[in-house]
Amino acid sequence: MNAPDRRIRKKTGDSFLFEFEGRSITAWPGETVAAALIASGHYNLRTAEDQSNRGLFCGIGMCWECRCVVDGNPNTRACMTEVKPGMIVRRQHGVG
Ligand code: FES
Repeated sequence: MNAPDRRIRKKTGDSFLFEFEGRSITAWPGETVAAALIASGHYNLRTAEDQSNRGLFCGIGMCWECRCVVDGNPNTRACMTEVKPGMIVRRQHGVG
């Protein structure tokens, strides 16, 4: 079940679904993976080598804290990746 919508940007176009950790997440065209996940209440995007939970930090592609596995590709920055219909996103554990 998705959390309440937290978007502040006007939604444009038709919504679609992608998958995060086996759950269907609703997104809109033009959103990043990070934006769609945050809007649906998912903040933990990866687990670091020391097992600490990590997520969005800079939001502009500089810190790499948001890296996750997108369609099988590790070390993909969620804040720099536009979400697409049917995309499969997983938390990254460790260095990927
Ligand atoms: S949040 Fe810093 S690179 Fe994505």
